[in-house]
Amino acid sequence: MNLSNDRCVFLTFVSFISLFACLHAQECRTRMYPPNGPTYRSNVTWYTLDLDLPPYQRWTQVIKEKKAELTAMIQAVKDLANSFFHGKLIHLVDQGLPLIVDMLPYPFNEEIKGIASVSDVSLGEVVLFNIFYEVFTVCTSVVAEDLNGNIYHVRNMDFGLFMGWDRKNQTWTITEKLKPLVVNVDFKRNNRTVFKSTSFVGYVGMLTGIRPREFTLTMNERFNIDGGYIGILEWILGKRDGMWMSFLTRKVLENATSYEDAKKQLALTKLLAPAYFILGGNQTGQGCVITRTRINTLDVWDINVKLGRWYVLETNYDHWEDPFFLDDRRTPAMKCMNKTTQANINLPTLYDVLSTKPVLNKLTTYTALMEVSTGTLESYVRDCPSPCSPW
Ligand SMILES: *[C@@H]1O[C@H](CO)[C@@H](O)[C@H](O)[C@H]1NC(C)=O
Ligand SMILES: *[C@@H]1O[C@H](CO)[C@@H](O)[C@H](O)[C@H]1NC(C)=O
Ligand SMILES: *[C@@H]1O[C@H](CO)[C@@H](O)[C@H](O)[C@H]1NC(C)=O
Ligand SMILES: *[C@@H]1O[C@H](CO)[C@@H](O)[C@H](O)[C@H]1NC(C)=O
Ligand SMILES: *[C@@H]1O[C@H](CO)[C@@H](O)[C@H](O)[C@H]1NC(C)=O
Ligand SMILES: *[C@@H]1O[C@H](CO)[C@@H](O)[C@H](O)[C@H]1NC(C)=O
Repeated sequence: MNLSNDRCVFLTFVSFISLFACLHAQECRTRMYPPNGPTYRSNVTWYTLDLDLPPYQRWTQVIKEKKAELTAMIQAVKDLANSFFHGKLIHLVDQGLPLIVDMLPYPFNEEIKGIASVSDVSLGEVVLFNIFYEVFTVCTSVVAEDLNGNIYHVRNMDFGLFMGWDRKNQTWTITEKLKPLVVNVDFKRNNRTVFKSTSFVGYVGMLTGIRPREFTLTMNERFNIDGGYIGILEWILGKRDGMWMSFLTRKVLENATSYEDAKKQLALTKLLAPAYFILGGNQTGQGCVITRTRINTLDVWDINVKLGRWYVLETNYDHWEDPFFLDDRRTPAMKCMNKTTQANINLPTLYDVLSTKPVLNKLTTYTALMEVSTGTLESYVRDCPSPCSPW
């Protein structure tokens, strides 16, 4: 690694800390919905994916339409990696990662091959893209129950921490390149919706999804020494088994048939790295945060209206511990939830909570809103013009 780069990263980090210290949490936003103003960039386009097609062909239409945006994103990642590793990483990606695709389970291996075949991006690069989502997401997810027992589930998807800071525009390079790749996908079998998801083009795992009238699911990263790159590296070297976290999320959305079934699979399946699964059901009390280690479940934190817990909220820290002091999105989000009250909770007021800085920040790519009883999934691409917290 190059010394001047190290120093630059360090200085950037220090300047962020001082910037962050100047930013007070914003007053809770109100009446932000329907989405408008400077923090709203655009609606998200819908695509249909036919699960009855062979996995190799499923993504063809989406990739064809988003080819240019996908290539631009991968190029930005490569430029960034090159500046750190002098091209060595790219060599690994082109030589090594194509071999890895066959270690991935069906149908993910075939879907990834199909994506590479119709895009202008190499197989190794598509594999890399599918790996790096597992380790760079910092997000906020909330499941809440209103006074009628209606369950809502919303999330901000924050991505791209430390991945290239554009000083002029005051944005994260990779975060900006990802925004045009946000799509809504309606996964159908026999011409009927099985589940719907907000996703990034080129990515076959799922981070946000709904099975209409059954359950809703999001995944947040759980930072841990046992996780991230170390877990992936060990898996590549054949020293570790377990399932990729976002592949499990996809499998549960595709094949679990109830809240309880989903909960069981998310709690019991052995993983490659720790994670938080945030699950909402279709009845009162059905909402939880599952805190996972690789092997087992540390904690299941349920909605319990009788105890006054009408929502559960997860960022990227265990709920029984304090968040990292430089990254406290939990306290401002909970403050706004409490201020909203259970009597006034609905998708528009939840959008307000997720629009309050620093819950909304410069890493936020999209906000997704889900209501299980109506089968609603709505997503919006977000911006956070300065002054705004970098994470
Ligand atoms: C975006 O979606 C909202 C509803 O979710 C709709 O009211 C609005 O008209 C849409 N905006 C555009 C520009 O399509
Ligand atoms: C910076 O912002 C300008 C104006 O919005 C835009 O045209 C340009 O593409 C941005 N640059 C990058 C690297 O995103
Ligand atoms: C699929 O369903 C839609 C309506 O939901 C209908 O318009 C279309 O004809 C159906 N396609 C097939 C192949 O059955
Ligand atoms: C879901 O189950 C079907 C039928 O068993 C299987 O073909 C499919 O691969 C499964 N989906 C995932 C993502 O594992
Ligand atoms: C809730 O989900 C279960 C299991 O999927 C289903 O049997 C039940 O009908 C659903 N209830 C409602 C109110 O939709
Ligand atoms: C929000 O309310 C809950 C339940 O009353 C309480 O435990 C929590 O401390 C409150 N949090 C904030 C930030 O106000």
